[in-house]
Amino acid sequence: MNYHILTLFPQMVTEGLNTSIIGRAAEKGLITINALNIRDYSKDKHRHVDDAPYGGGAGMVMQPGPVCDCYEDLCRRLNKRPRVLYMTPQGRVFSQAIAQELAREEDLVFLCGHYEGIDERALSRIVTDHLSIGDYVLTGGELPAMVMIDCISRLVPGVLNNDESAQIDSFHDNLLEYPQYTRPEIYEGMQVPPVLLSGHHKNIEAWRRQESIRRTLTMRPDLLENASLTKKEQEFLKALREEIHEESACAQEYSVIE
Ligand code: ADE
Repeated sequence: MNYHILTLFPQMVTEGLNTSIIGRAAEKGLITINALNIRDYSKDKHRHVDDAPYGGGAGMVMQPGPVCDCYEDLCRRLNKRPRVLYMTPQGRVFSQAIAQELAREEDLVFLCGHYEGIDERALSRIVTDHLSIGDYVLTGGELPAMVMIDCISRLVPGVLNNDESAQIDSFHDNLLEYPQYTRPEIYEGMQVPPVLLSGHHKNIEAWRRQESIRRTLTMRPDLLENASLTKKEQEFLKALREEIHEESACAQEYSVIE
């Protein structure tokens, strides 16, 4: 997977992605991180890349020329026109499903804006996808690009040590990950669930699956709509729902008595 990041702050991206698992993946050549400085494509003697918005208003807008020239230069060198993902709070909210789809590409371009955004003509000419990392506004697109690169990279074969872990993690099957425990067996009086010490792999797997369902129901019940559960698991979920319903009815009754 080759990432090309079009930015005014290339150092922010290269330094943010050169450690830990993503840094190791780059060292191994499983991914490449190519940060391109949009400012290098300014035709201005002061290397300006922004100007005041037509029609007035606060802030500065990034000019279309340097952005498009930067992308066209990249396309010439690659001899192809990769997808351009524009980082914007107006875009589709990034998800694990989008990451999986993007991980199938060979090259991805991340376009990072700053100031009040980028001239609409550049966006309409080169952008293929508008993507957001959530309903809040950041100062630029570099952090969203880094978030997406991190997420997509762990889906690239060989990036994670254990091939399985990308599959089992949170959101696999639309279920959250089960709780994890490690030594010591008892911490501050709290015991590790005995089934995990039993060595009985089938029981451990069944317990983990049930805890995933329980956790998803309490923390992200919206995900369950798209989870694929066996008949037995659906029954377990139904029983859990009834249990929770009874508990909350009990708590309500108790508060009335108080
Ligand atoms: N740029 C500024 N805020 C953003 C967000 N929430 N997602 C993606 N790009 C952004």
